[in-house]
Amino acid sequence: MDFILDHYENPRNAGSLNGDHEHTHSCDVKQNGGNPGCGDIITVCLKFNDGIIEDFKFEGEGCIVSQAGTSIISEIVIGKSKEEIMGMGPEVITEIIGEELALSRPKCSTLGIQTVKLAIKEFEKQEAKKEALG
Ligand code: FES
Repeated sequence: MDFILDHYENPRNAGSLNGDHEHTHSCDVKQNGGNPGCGDIITVCLKFNDGIIEDFKFEGEGCIVSQAGTSIISEIVIGKSKEEIMGMGPEVITEIIGEELALSRPKCSTLGIQTVKLAIKEFEKQEAKKEALG
């Protein structure tokens, strides 16, 4: 639990999504994800380089498990390819936070990874559109 609390209190890769303090952080895709059951929400901002997540920032408000889970996921997905991430299931987070917590809070613990996957789909849509427009 200390590990989860640490991620909640000192979230990795949390920060502004608009590049207001670091100009390098304009993102390629920005995606909201939420848990309708409770209203908790996160926004992730991804930057790609040749199909690989090069940068990740997130903002959010919600329960400890959802925010810590997103922080944990941010460290996992940076440097990974879109395909690798799309192939990740909930076990990626279960392995880290433990079955007990993951199973008792499935929506909270997977909010981060689900939102990253949504963001990748959205990014691919954008790219397809760009290509179609020439
Ligand atoms: Fe809302 Fe956990 S209670 S995401």
